[in-house]
This record gives sequence, C-alpha cells and structure tokens, in this order.
Amino acid sequence: MNPARRPLVAGNWKMHKTAAEAQAYAQALLPRLATVGAEVAVCAPFTTLAPLIDATRGSPLGVYAQNMHEQPAGAFTGEVSAPMLVELGVDGVVVGHSERRQYFGETDRALCEKVPAALEAGLTPILCVGESEEERAAGETDRKLRQQVREALNRVPDERLASVVIAYEPIWAIGTGLVAAPEQAQEAVAFVRALVGDRSRRAAAGVRVLYGGSVTPENAPQLLALEDVDGALVGGASLEVESFAAIVKAAA
Ligand code: 13P
Repeated sequence: MNPARRPLVAGNWKMHKTAAEAQAYAQALLPRLATVGAEVAVCAPFTTLAPLIDATRGSPLGVYAQNMHEQPAGAFTGEVSAPMLVELGVDGVVVGHSERRQYFGETDRALCEKVPAALEAGLTPILCVGESEEERAAGETDRKLRQQVREALNRVPDERLASVVIAYEPIWAIGTGLVAAPEQAQEAVAFVRALVGDRSRRAAAGVRVLYGGSVTPENAPQLLALEDVDGALVGGASLEVESFAAIVKAAA
C-alpha cells in the first residue's frame, strides 16, 4: 500500500444474505469500524440495498451494488440503472465481475458504457479484470488485462480515471482457495496501474487497484502490504463479520 492512496476493502457478498441477515451483519460490523483508517464497503444484492442503507446511515460503511445497466432507463426487463441506485443512497457498484462475464454475458463493450455511466451518476465503479487459468498458462495475462482495462476505460475522461477503482481478480483464484502469490499479485496490479498510466500518469498515481481472489484473514496482511495493492475485494471471507473485520484490520 502507498500512503498517497486510501485503502479500500470491499466485501462482495454475491448472491448471499436476505435483508434481515444484511441488517444483522451491519449491526455487528459497525462497532468494529469505529477506529479503522481504511474505506470499507459491502457489495450487496439489490434487495438488501435499501435496508442496508437504513442500517448504516451516518456510519463509515459504504454500500455498493453488484451490477447495473449502462442506460439510465428503458425497455430492459429485469435490469437496474445507476440513477435508481443513486436515489437509494448507494455509494458504488461492481462492474465486470468474472461471474457476470462468464454466466451473464457481460462484455467489454457494455463495460465501456457502464463505467462512465456509473461515474456520471455519482457512483464509484469497481471494475473487475483478470485472466483465466488457461490464459495465464499461455502467457496471455498481460494481453487480457490490457484489453479489459483499455476497453472499459475508453470513454472515461482522463481527469475522471482516478475515480475508478480497479480490482485485479485472477479467475483461477476466485472461490478456489488458490490465492495469487504475492509476486503474481504485485506484478499484475502494477501492470494494471501502468495501463492507466498510458492514459494519464497523474491518474495512475491516484487510481486504486485492489486484489481479489481467495483473500482471507491469514493472507491479507501480506497481500495488503504490497506496494501497488490498495485494498481487497473479498468474496467468501466477507460473509462472516469476524473474518471480514480481520481483513479490514489488516488494511488499517
Ligand atoms: P473469493 O474471495 O470467495 O475467492 O471471491 C473473490 C471475488 O470474486 C470477489 O469479487
């Protein structure tokens, strides 16, 4: 971590927790955040957003959604737009998660519209990028990251680039317990930062790049100590208050 950038630890609950469970979680987590220097957020299912915002009002815990549509409104059955999230009081949104790319056909082309749409609406986008096991084995990690980062940020003006958060999440590390080695995480996260630097050196110095994929309380201190890692996007270990609070503590 670099003191010039405020660390962000975000828990991605994926399709877990009812509204009642989310409220109970917030009540248990909030007292643990009183003295934390890092920014902390949970990325929650749509149905839990309003109750979570009620339960966290005036607290330092950010509430993020896990997806949004790129258009502000329209005939897109089943979708939710950025202005709808902003009206609720949502702080940000995960876009381009590998599960959405793999199971729901999320494309770099849609992300090219989603990222600026989120920013314009006032949401902090967490753009997820990362290579598959096969791509890493074939030496294609850099090519994949270059394509994903360039395309998703293509329509973001240089002066807004540093407002995007990018999460490097190697697909082979997600939900597998196979966390990236510190050298692998540092190398890829620094490469992502350099890609932002191709657009603007100033933005590269300010943009926050997170690591995600099998982060636990045990491996978090080592990952979060890496020079270019500005925080973590945490899946499984964010579902329990105890383990998430321990990861947050490692970032503080
Ligand atoms: P796990 O922490 O469960 O590996 O999930 C990572 C992830 O996908 C966060 O977005």
